[in-house]
Amino acid sequence: MTKKWWHDKVAYQIYPKSFYDSNGDGIGDIPGIISKLDYLKDLGADILWLSPCYASPLADQGYDISDYYKIDPRFGTMEDMDRLIAEAKKRDMYILMDLVVNHCSDEHEWFQKACQDPDGKYGRFFYLRDKKDGELPTNWRSYFGGPVWDDLPGTDKQYLHVFHKKQPDLNWENPEVREEIYKNINWWLDKGLGGFRIDAIINIKKALPFRSYEADREDGLCSVEAMLKDAEGIGEFLREMRDRTFRKYDAFSVGEVFHEKPEEIQDFIGEDGYFSSMFDFNETVFGSSEKGWYDAKPITPDDYKKCCFEAQRRVGNTGFLSNVIENHDEPRGVCRYIPEGDVNDKSKKMLAALNLMLRGIPFIYQGQELGMENMPFSSIEEIDDISSKHEYQVALDAGLTPEDALNRIAGFSRDNARTPMQWSDEANAGFTTGTPWLKVNPNYTSINAASQMDDPDSVRSFYKKLIALRKDPEYKETIVYGDLEPLWETRRNLMAYCRQGDRLLFVIGNYRKYDQSVTLPYPYKKVLLNNYPDIDEEGKTISLYGYQVLILEM
Ligand code: GLC
Ligand code: CA
Repeated sequence: MTKKWWHDKVAYQIYPKSFYDSNGDGIGDIPGIISKLDYLKDLGADILWLSPCYASPLADQGYDISDYYKIDPRFGTMEDMDRLIAEAKKRDMYILMDLVVNHCSDEHEWFQKACQDPDGKYGRFFYLRDKKDGELPTNWRSYFGGPVWDDLPGTDKQYLHVFHKKQPDLNWENPEVREEIYKNINWWLDKGLGGFRIDAIINIKKALPFRSYEADREDGLCSVEAMLKDAEGIGEFLREMRDRTFRKYDAFSVGEVFHEKPEEIQDFIGEDGYFSSMFDFNETVFGSSEKGWYDAKPITPDDYKKCCFEAQRRVGNTGFLSNVIENHDEPRGVCRYIPEGDVNDKSKKMLAALNLMLRGIPFIYQGQELGMENMPFSSIEEIDDISSKHEYQVALDAGLTPEDALNRIAGFSRDNARTPMQWSDEANAGFTTGTPWLKVNPNYTSINAASQMDDPDSVRSFYKKLIALRKDPEYKETIVYGDLEPLWETRRNLMAYCRQGDRLLFVIGNYRKYDQSVTLPYPYKKVLLNNYPDIDEEGKTISLYGYQVLILEM
């Protein structure tokens, strides 16, 4: 495998709106990010992915772009952006922007022009269909609820949006659209970006011609995914995009890819793949239900382990997955993957080690390194996210009481991860001197960066050690490129694997609060990391403490 500059890097996702507010308007901004670069460098992050900060009405928090060449004034200016790229470079760090090109905003000039002249050039930038009385072009349900079709204002047509109605889908079948997209990507890469995280990309290829599918809920609609399963030929678009953009710059690209088929992995992230990497969402989609969040099944430690190993096996050494515990679309991983009541510093560190030692590129989401937790929402009014609001309604429609509906969906709300970053125990967690756009998690007095920085036992210090281990010249080759083999795979509540490269490492996590012992095949050489001060051992047998994790050199 050809070595690439990103293979041995550690990535960190910034959600700009909630990261750090430099001017007291309650909204995080780019100058705020610049002022925290040293914090990120100190942690060991190399690649910084910024969720969208382009001009946007923020109907879906910036994933609805009205101008791909502008920074939204709420986040700063283009000069700020240039300064961020330059300041990152000084610190050997790379900036990734979010590439949101399945759709734009309905406030984008293209869409405005399409409304004015639906049969003209810009009408062909979107998927438009003639409006018929009492009948929609297809019965697909948008990800955020309701049909994917809405009236194109001022015309007798309807337009397609697989997400929110303020996010009209761009027509990738039209070469002029693709040209515009490539031009924009290259414009950004010319600025010196490290690359892109590629949003919702699996949606760009629709099954043609459009048709309805069997309804999967009482609303008579079917999930967009039913149509996507039928779509063929996305590879042509992705290959073209790669060749016309990323490849020329040796840029890093990581795709938001769901439900890829095993035989497609080589095409997506193999040596000559469309992307440098793609996220592993095997754990996050586990237990999801066609009916909605309210019906989702919680994940157990054994399920979690199974999902991780399944993803690892599927990809093997074909390419690099990007491993996440959480992101801006998911609840906090510590609250999801650790049984309720057991969420504490020990278990958080265990989860961190098990995740970061997997083969692939680690992506840490802001606050994850502090062990930030889900928000205790007490009413639906406290939730801003459109997706959560929709899922709440779905739960009500299914007959749940408002209280039950909130309880069932709260744990999945995207706002769990979008609450402001907890910098200190000062007012508003030190995120802003004004009023934060979204309520701060009340646990900021105990969970915050300031208190963890100099505490050698903090969750953050543990993350720092894990990252340092990954970069240690002695172990780097093994941790980055080594094979992964599960160990004691059938043992319950134990997740363990080895990494075999020029060294052999064992990663062993006791995924429960009670002791459990393991017997090593032979004595270990060295303890590289331990989330407890000691090891309870007798010969080759180790009695692991509750949620103990060990990284051993064998
Ligand atoms: C992706 C983003 C999510 C957004 C959606 C539509 O899934 O991560 O936040 O709502 O795409 O752009
Ligand atoms: Ca601000």
